[in-house]
Amino acid sequence: MGQYKNIVILTGAGISAESGVATFRDNDGLWEKHRIEDVATPEAFARDPDLVQRFYSLRRRQLNEVEPNAAHKALAKLQRELDGKVTIITQNVDDLHERGGGTNIIHMHGELRKVRCKACSSVHDWREDCAQETECPSCGRAPSLRPHIVWFGEMPFFMDRIAEYLAECDLFISIGTSGNVYPAAGFVAEVRAKGNAHTIEVNLEPSEGASMFAEHRHGKAGELLPALVEELLN
Ligand code: OAD
Repeated sequence: MGQYKNIVILTGAGISAESGVATFRDNDGLWEKHRIEDVATPEAFARDPDLVQRFYSLRRRQLNEVEPNAAHKALAKLQRELDGKVTIITQNVDDLHERGGGTNIIHMHGELRKVRCKACSSVHDWREDCAQETECPSCGRAPSLRPHIVWFGEMPFFMDRIAEYLAECDLFISIGTSGNVYPAAGFVAEVRAKGNAHTIEVNLEPSEGASMFAEHRHGKAGELLPALVEELLN
């Protein structure tokens, strides 16, 4: 398997599940407990900003209690050994790829440990709670800060760069994503339309888009990824 020059890895909530971060659509997932329309849309933030700020502050706090797992670490090893050839595009807003040693990480749905000022557009690293009365460290205005998260109805970040990576890759691996949310769910089709890249799905169960992948590995990411990475390195 050592022939690949450009590897793109798409990750979703499933890769962080074994770290204790709740997924969205499994039993007991985040969207079972909260309605998307209440906490994850621009309309929700306009209607009840305090509730939305509390929701993301709580999720930000939960990051203090979790650690990267064997899957994050295996991908970081792949990046280290194949220096510069491996890009991770993540839908996750946690920072477990980075804490697991990963380097080239594109957060297409934003980051929990960042906030953005709606008034001056500055983006700030943020580890504390954020509330409507919290002042922007750059312009001093309040209320002006919002979670640096892509909500439903908003455009994911870095789509131009992502399109370039997808066009150039010769191996595309999707890990721990249910394939419900576009545009990420459409990446495998984009890759296949543009070239001869090999495609692998690693997921607990077949995803919505499973039939689009040439190869499937079903099970826990933390158990499957270390072996897959060794195969890629040998
Ligand atoms: P989902 O919760 O929709 O899907 C998680 C997938 O991971 C499911 O297919 C599970 O079977 C699988 N899974 C669970 N545990 C696993 C494990 N240990 N190993 C491997 N796979 C496992 O999460 P996403 O697909 O990431 O967007 O959701 C995509 C987007 O929808 C999220 O980024 C978020 C959400 O709404 C926004 O908030 C904008």
